[in-house]
Amino acid sequence: MAALAMDIVIEGLTKVFVNRADPSRSVTAVNNVSLSIAPGQLVTLLGPSGCGKTTILRIIAGFETPTSGKVLLGGRDITHTPPNKRDTALVFQNYALFPHLTVWENVTFGLKLRKDISPEEQKARAERVLSQVGLSDMAQRSPDQLSGGQQQRVALARAIVNEPRVLLFDEPLSNLDAKLREQMRLEIRALQQRHGITSVYVTHDQSEAMAISDRIVILKDGRIEQAGTPEEVYTRPATHFVADFIGRANFVSARVAGVSKGGYDLEVNGRTVFVPGSGQDSFGPGDFVDILLRPENTYVLPRSGAVGQPVPGAGAQGELTPVVDGRLVRRSFLGAVVEYEIEVPGHPRLLAEMSNPFAWGLLEPGSEVTVYFSPRVAHLLRRP
Ligand SMILES: Nc1ncnc2c1ncn2[C@@H]1O[C@H](COP(=O)(O)OP(=O)(O)OP(=O)(O)O)[C@@H](O)[C@H]1O
Ligand SMILES: [Mg+2]
Repeated sequence: MAALAMDIVIEGLTKVFVNRADPSRSVTAVNNVSLSIAPGQLVTLLGPSGCGKTTILRIIAGFETPTSGKVLLGGRDITHTPPNKRDTALVFQNYALFPHLTVWENVTFGLKLRKDISPEEQKARAERVLSQVGLSDMAQRSPDQLSGGQQQRVALARAIVNEPRVLLFDEPLSNLDAKLREQMRLEIRALQQRHGITSVYVTHDQSEAMAISDRIVILKDGRIEQAGTPEEVYTRPATHFVADFIGRANFVSARVAGVSKGGYDLEVNGRTVFVPGSGQDSFGPGDFVDILLRPENTYVLPRSGAVGQPVPGAGAQGELTPVVDGRLVRRSFLGAVVEYEIEVPGHPRLLAEMSNPFAWGLLEPGSEVTVYFSPRVAHLLRRP
């Protein structure tokens, strides 16, 4: 297969949709976004509705012209290159298949326009790609004889068969049910990796983003909040917004009492707890911070004589440290995990998700509890 991969570089991209009748209503959909994507990588644009994801994708595809900034493909400035000259393929959520053509005709539609590929090679490619998406037996069906997942596979095959340098996905799975979505996202990832096609994937589903991405770019109001690997943005979010958007988050308010040994002594509701620093943070005594506790790093144990004592547990996570006392207000038993909601004086409620619940012992709502965590896995954010 030809070398398909290629860098995408976006520099200072801004898009203002000007409202001519009332310029005060103009919308800055994309605001000074810079981003580069290594060959063969899949980068996801993640963010709430209206944050500019589709606009960035449409600018890369050439369906929208930026107000300022550039798009480079393999070092070539393509900002003003027409879409059909860019070697990009776009996969939408509503598939956009031709209803009156068969699967085979849909998949080979673009190929037939290519003078540089012989009819034999076209046929071989289409057969290969249809087999890769598991549709070899359905080549003669029309789209209305296919399930949603099968239609999505046709759309995928049609994009890949042209061997584009760049694949662009705009929420391709949002019309599918939850189970099929999870299956299809793995198939998309496997195909993308097998072909080594540089890809930009738009979604507002954080678990989808985590599952398929080399890197995730979190957007808010047209700006990049943070870009990093799924692990980085989950464990070391740069802002409260990212922490909240990329998963469920508890924020425990604390005050820095002292700085020592590569970490911080924090005062929390009368207790002092030590949390290691990330190496990138620089808090000083007196600073107000929030300890980010993911629900899976939030443990609830009965309040007892052992209050204040660390307890061994959580396996590889090491010692658990008590952080706050509270009252259990909700218990939802979900089988593999139990979810607890804890009321803590002067704090928003905390959410704990404990796996292997029977090993820990189920706690009764209304009981007085102590919340523990593993400081090694906690993360500190400056209080906004
Ligand atoms: N053609 C347009 N004219 C005017 N405003 C537009 C246009 N297209 C998009 N916008 C505005 O630009 C902003 C970004 O839109 P965009 O479609 O990029 O968001 P998105 O992140 O893809 O959202 P969603 O998750 O809902 O698809 C929104 O406020 C939207 O209303
Ligand atoms: Mg969109």
